[in-house]
Amino acid sequence: MPSQAFTLAHLSDPHLTSLAVAQPGALLNKRLLGYLSWQLKRRREHRPEVLSALIADLHRQAPDHITITGDLTQISLEHEFRQTARWLAQLADPERISVIPGNHDAYVPLAWNESLRYWQSYMTSDAGTQSVFPFLRVRGPVALIGVNSAVPSAPFLAIGTVGDQQIQKLASLLEATAKQNLFRVLLIHHPPHPEAIKSRKRLTDIKPVQALLRQYGCELILHGHSHLWQLHWLQGPNKTNIPMIGVPSASAIGHKRGYRSRYHLYRITKTQEGWRLEVTIRGLNEHLTFGKEGDFTITLP
Ligand SMILES: [Fe+2]
Repeated sequence: MPSQAFTLAHLSDPHLTSLAVAQPGALLNKRLLGYLSWQLKRRREHRPEVLSALIADLHRQAPDHITITGDLTQISLEHEFRQTARWLAQLADPERISVIPGNHDAYVPLAWNESLRYWQSYMTSDAGTQSVFPFLRVRGPVALIGVNSAVPSAPFLAIGTVGDQQIQKLASLLEATAKQNLFRVLLIHHPPHPEAIKSRKRLTDIKPVQALLRQYGCELILHGHSHLWQLHWLQGPNKTNIPMIGVPSASAIGHKRGYRSRYHLYRITKTQEGWRLEVTIRGLNEHLTFGKEGDFTITLP
């Protein structure tokens, strides 16, 4: 008999904050470019009414847990972290949401207290350890493993790095959760696949991350950053393949083809052979509501 299903929601890159009240003094260095880009372009694409429609639909679907794979802010101003923390608090209990940062949430070098501190309860490991990343949160049959690939980068770059420390900790987390027969979901903003993202937005240590996944495996990788719907496969141990899935920005009205807002529901069921992963795609339509756009099923050993 298959066990009861667990449903995980995945949305990404909501870019939900407004820079309308940004003080000129706060817009030094790279932030000025980000501010101009928001004024000229991004505020017309990332719309609060789109995100509200997505969240209304998400509540109706009532997933067991919600994952957000980064880029909640625009240029990492402290008031943006406060604004996103208020938004998260309205979305669901911290026990039911897991968040990782994206490059826009590490736009310039930041003090913890002025930035990610505001999201700590959505990134805290079950063990409650002080060092946050990679975090491990076990919910039902699912191990949510959150990586921080967000690092400040030079103007016009949006690269990411996982770093040796996190890679070492990931190895032991992936190994331990495999032994517990959990469905391991790796959350990472920058997709660890060269075809998924432009070079100027790449993950710099893609090779050691891929080597880690080849050795220890995981059942699913969820990413953001590209603002596109994407499915790629990465090599796991013993010639297995790991699905890697990205979703468009949760707030995108979709001025450019392919960028219109979508989110996913992953229904995860343990079977006698392994796992069944049923993916439902829900997207924005012309009536500014969300509906089902498609589904597919992946069976995993
Ligand atoms: Fe990004």
